[in-house]
Amino acid sequence: MKKMIVTGGAGFIGSNFVHYVVKNHPEIHVTVLDKLTYAGNEANLAGLPADRVELIVGDIADAELVDKLVKETDAVVHYAAESHNDNSLEDPYPFLQTNIIGTYTLIEACRKYDVRYHHVSTDEVYGDLPLREDLPGHGEGPGEKFTAETSYNPSSPYSSTKAGSDLLVKAWVRSFGLKATISNCSNNYGPYQHIEKFIPRQITNILSGIRPKLYGEGKNVRDWIHTNDHSSAVWTILTKGRIGETYLIGADGEQNNKAVLELILELMNQPKDAYEHVVDRPGHDLRYAIDSTKLYQELGWEPQFTNFKDGLADTIQWYTDNASWWQAEKAAVEAKYAKNNQ
Ligand code: NAD
Ligand code: DAU
Repeated sequence: MKKMIVTGGAGFIGSNFVHYVVKNHPEIHVTVLDKLTYAGNEANLAGLPADRVELIVGDIADAELVDKLVKETDAVVHYAAESHNDNSLEDPYPFLQTNIIGTYTLIEACRKYDVRYHHVSTDEVYGDLPLREDLPGHGEGPGEKFTAETSYNPSSPYSSTKAGSDLLVKAWVRSFGLKATISNCSNNYGPYQHIEKFIPRQITNILSGIRPKLYGEGKNVRDWIHTNDHSSAVWTILTKGRIGETYLIGADGEQNNKAVLELILELMNQPKDAYEHVVDRPGHDLRYAIDSTKLYQELGWEPQFTNFKDGLADTIQWYTDNASWWQAEKAAVEAKYAKNNQ
């Protein structure tokens, strides 16, 4: 493999993957295909060598452009998506267009030119799990985390379009022999995450003198993984994964939202209760938890960034040092949330 297309490579996780590939695999040339929506930012790719990384600003649903690019490449790693649940509750259409039609466009081209395809997806396709405290064995028994065998049961327009795109890929593998793998990862955190998302929203609230906002009681659990670990896992699956297989990516990082917010407040020297409870998200998934045994045992992957407090402290430092990256957008993001009393 010498040439790779990374779709959504100017977004949060996609740009992290591009940095990872440039740093660790000097033999690869990366073409980033990104529409630069509100969530994409050319600055996320700043400093990368021009002879190793090329940015093509375009839409993954543009069949002519996709055909031209895929014809010339060895692999496609597909991150581009509309990615935010709250936005999907306001206006689902762009989610259908990008997540479903965009994916369809990419896999059709990969099938035509027999190009290796890796599909980046989410644990949210499985719906949610009961809270540990509501389970007899406190969630330690078999079947109490998501595995590749868990049935799809998505809750939001976002997660249902991601589920739909996964199913397209599975069908293209079976019916057309598409050389594809799929990964379903838990919640990422780290630098360059858009400030609409939970962790950066609260960090930038505090930095802007706004009280952090917790949906409902804050009991909902997310399984946090550092985005650098997501990148190494995707590389491992791309290079060692078995065609047609699904691998779940997680790093045993379960935390409820209240605990995460209290840790952010502590790390930023704020009182523990210096936040507001706001209106909950409709259909809010309770708990996500990933069983990554297959990825550990079959492909030998291990996460490196497993100290959540240290990772969060580094992330807070990044948003503090890079206010110019987010400040211009802050008022508009908060005004959008305020319309729903969030
Ligand atoms: P993001 O919203 O930060 O970035 C998405 C990127 O895709 C942006 O650069 C945007 O410009 C681009 N894009 C959107 N529509 C496009 C289109 N039609 N054509 C070309 N480019 C387009 O998203 P993210 O959080 O980095 O997530 C990336 C991928 O990882 C998504 O597929 C998401 O479902 C998946 N994922 C995210 C998480 C998470 O915690 N954020 C966890 C698991 C999986
Ligand atoms: O699980 C993987 C998914 O994680 C990805 O597929 C999505 O692309 C990504 O956005 C993320 O989805 P979530 O909905 O879990 O992430 P979000 O950052 O929006 O919210 C995390 C939790 O925090 C969730 O329980 C809602 C809550 N929340 C969110 C915001 C923005 C708050 O309590 N307050 C907030 O202001």
